[in-house]
Amino acid sequence: MSDMFRLDGKTALITGASRGIGRAIAMAFAEQGARVLLTARNMELLKEVRAQVRELGVSCECFAADLSDMKEVERLIGWAGEQGPIDCYVNNAAFTAYKKPTETSPETMAALFHTNYRASIMLAQAVAAQMREHEIPGSIVFITSINALSPLPGQAAYSSTKAALESMMKSLASELAPFGVRVNSVAPGAVLTDMNPHFTPEKIAEFSPKIPLGRIGDPEDIGGAAVFLCSPAAGYITGSTIVVDGGYLLRR
Ligand SMILES: NC(=O)c1ccc[n+]([C@@H]2O[C@H](COP(=O)([O-])OP(=O)(O)OC[C@H]3O[C@@H](n4cnc5c(N)ncnc54)[C@H](OP(=O)(O)O)[C@@H]3O)[C@@H](O)[C@H]2O)c1
Repeated sequence: MSDMFRLDGKTALITGASRGIGRAIAMAFAEQGARVLLTARNMELLKEVRAQVRELGVSCECFAADLSDMKEVERLIGWAGEQGPIDCYVNNAAFTAYKKPTETSPETMAALFHTNYRASIMLAQAVAAQMREHEIPGSIVFITSINALSPLPGQAAYSSTKAALESMMKSLASELAPFGVRVNSVAPGAVLTDMNPHFTPEKIAEFSPKIPLGRIGDPEDIGGAAVFLCSPAAGYITGSTIVVDGGYLLRR
């Protein structure tokens, strides 16, 4: 039974792996035996994660790229292509803007869509092409958000980028199923990372009781779901979204 969750012999590409949820996903994949390819902008932080992953006895490489820039995304695709076939792709990198719909400038909308959506799809297209070429029964996972399913007006354009990813996830799942490639998403609720600087100890104490499971999520909570979706245990799952929010959507 436990082997159903192992990823030995697999190579996983993880974006936004320098900190927060992406870093936890990288560690979770390494703990299950996967070779891990890391990317984000901050090379110093990536090297720290690489060292932690290698301590677990698995191979790890990293590459710095700014996903807001299409040329950098193309450079990343080139590098990933040189690392050998990729079995698992976890699309995690993103940023948010705390703006209401009527207050979101075209520049902010474009920036959010370039990093959170355009780069994600360019990478997924490249990974899917090499999975098909090498006949790899691969797995693609988009880290979206409960805001894709129940939008927060205060993060309007961010929520829209995540809803767009949810939609594309389903289209890709349909297109790639005949090739044995599965595509799913994980929609986290609130998680304690740099993305939520407003979570002071007072705010955490105030917000936690509003969550049915009584606490805000840790990055590791998301790592487990991403590993599951890439593991043999999820071999019959495609086009699905796993909500990892401690039950918060039940009450929002
Ligand atoms: N935290 C939450 O409550 C929460 C809730 C729902 C969904 N999520 C989703 O979970 C994922 C991870 O979020 P997080 O909370 O871990 O956020 P985070 O702590 O802010 O980390 C974001 C990651 O993305 C990378 N990144 C950001 N902009 C980038 C760019 N232009 N190019 C390349 N890499 C970039 C960052 O690395 P560098 O700065 O080194 O580039 C970092 O590794 C995101 O997709 C987010 O939308 C988070």
